[in-house]
Amino acid sequence: MEKFYVLITGASKGFGRAMALEFAKLKMNLVLIALPDSGLKELSVFLKKNFNVEVFYLEKDLSITESYYSIAEFISSNNINLKYLVNNAGILSRGYFDDLSDQFILKQIKVNVTAPTLLISLLLKNLKTNAPAGILNISSMAGFFALPKKQVYCGTKSYLTSFSKSLGKELKKDNISVTTICPGGLNTTSRLCYQNRIVGWLTRESVLNPEDAAKIAINAMLTKQRITVPGFVNKCLMVLDKLLPEFIKDYLTNRELNKFPATQ
Ligand SMILES: NC(=O)c1ccc[n+]([C@@H]2O[C@H](COP(=O)([O-])OP(=O)(O)OC[C@H]3O[C@@H](n4cnc5c(N)ncnc54)[C@H](OP(=O)(O)O)[C@@H]3O)[C@@H](O)[C@H]2O)c1
Repeated sequence: MEKFYVLITGASKGFGRAMALEFAKLKMNLVLIALPDSGLKELSVFLKKNFNVEVFYLEKDLSITESYYSIAEFISSNNINLKYLVNNAGILSRGYFDDLSDQFILKQIKVNVTAPTLLISLLLKNLKTNAPAGILNISSMAGFFALPKKQVYCGTKSYLTSFSKSLGKELKKDNISVTTICPGGLNTTSRLCYQNRIVGWLTRESVLNPEDAAKIAINAMLTKQRITVPGFVNKCLMVLDKLLPEFIKDYLTNRELNKFPATQ
């Protein structure tokens, strides 16, 4: 019997790691990608031992174009049948545009935009061979909004959401679903866990644990949903965004964002 795999980028920690664990629980074989020395080897051993699944791992920097080609080459030379592709790796940031270095801006665009786009392009033939198949792109609620100090991040996530929606229409004929997940706050890094505690009540209520969001994301992909905003409060915030006048939204977002120090 043929074996099928799920490829997850940014699988070493945070949301990607939570999804790797969730897929392993569902007995799906995995290909995990993250930067070198990020604990992928240990995670692979853990998943193989505890869930009896096959796991490959690849240490690649997704801000380097060559990495996309070497990942595709690895998949092809190991005869890996991809059923699902999860583009999760992403670089978050907070800071005035003036203060962002050109190297940082380029890196963020490469990881958040170029990597998912090129990986889909290079792995599409493989996914088509194994259809019905699915692509899960991890975008963000930030992609719907105009947020000061998050301008490049918001732009990259708007791209990913829009690209995914258009691509999904195109790939329907090939029996490949494209699902976009747009989380609000997730308690992933220790910095985010701290920030998510000092925000206002409503934002605090909207934050999800990566484990809960992972279940929602995978279910959305397996049920071929096109776009999902995880969590009840986040869904309400999306409705509020349509109803509130611009000046109130500006006041509220500035109040929240000014609570945090800049990070790059
Ligand atoms: N956390 C949130 O509040 C939130 C909200 C909405 C959307 N999201 C989205 O969810 C996704 C995951 O976020 P997260 O909070 O889990 O982030 P995270 O904890 O910082 O994890 C990011 C993952 O991406 C990998 N990565 C980063 N740069 C890379 C590069 N150049 N090459 C290869 N891998 C790289 C990291 O690998 P290393 O371990 O090797 O660094 C890590 O596995 C992102 O796309 C993010 O935009 C997050």
